Amino acid sequence: MRVITTISDLKAAIKAEKSQQKTIGFVPTMGYLHEGHKALLKKAREENQVVVLSIFVNPLQFGPNEDLESYPRDFEQDQKVAQEEGVDIIFHPSVTEMYPNELSVTMKVKKRTDVLCGESRPGHFDGVATVVSKLFHLVQPDKAYFGKKDAQQLAVIEGLVNDFNFPLQIVPVDTVREHDGLAKSSRNVYLSEKERAEAPALYRSLLDAVNRIKAGEVNPERIVQVISDRIQTETSGQIDYVSILTYPDLEKVEVVQGNFIMALAVKFSKARLIDNVILVEE
Ligand code: PAF
Repeated sequence: MRVITTISDLKAAIKAEKSQQKTIGFVPTMGYLHEGHKALLKKAREENQVVVLSIFVNPLQFGPNEDLESYPRDFEQDQKVAQEEGVDIIFHPSVTEMYPNELSVTMKVKKRTDVLCGESRPGHFDGVATVVSKLFHLVQPDKAYFGKKDAQQLAVIEGLVNDFNFPLQIVPVDTVREHDGLAKSSRNVYLSEKERAEAPALYRSLLDAVNRIKAGEVNPERIVQVISDRIQTETSGQIDYVSILTYPDLEKVEVVQGNFIMALAVKFSKARLIDNVILVEE
């Protein structure tokens, strides 16, 4: 496994792999790797000859009052995980390596951002689309792996790849959960013991909603109410949103049918957790 910190070394390494016609699987991350990332790396390892992992906490996707400075980082541990998962190249650039000057061009995501996390994090997905575009150009992957937990990010990236004809395939990977259903996240470490015990209620409320839909409920407002009531009763978190939208277009629904997502974000004292269930018509 090679750790590469400069763009010039990365370009040389990718050129060498490409010259041998090797397929490249890419897992972009901000580090502090957990089981969710491992699932992405495992899938990338299965499907490609070369696996590239990027670890870069991208300042462009953090708002002024967000957790850029305190975002958890542990590069030593991340290297161990990467080694165990059979990563070939870790790309771990500094902020000045990625953005030596203020960018003269950035991405502006126009659709799929005025809802869910995009609504409360203005500019977040512009920052994601900008860094992901840059990373795709550098790594030139055949396939790139994204978790379904960040379903809005996945939808935005799919739009980016389609609109700009990036020559790669996006591979969505299922959310990895703790034994009690809580979605794995780097931010779970910020939960107090009490909040950690409450947090599985998020996923339970989504599963409860799935059961109601399967039993014939089609009214999105009633389903949102049921999810919200349960979170308010069973946790001390503050609901940021509970939404039901079409997937992947993320448009409002009048009647719950077809392909849709039920998504939520809940703020605890030091962590904002997100989760979702995507239901696809069979
Ligand atoms: O999902 C993440 O960790 C980040 O948003 C990504 C895709 C690595 C871009 O910085």
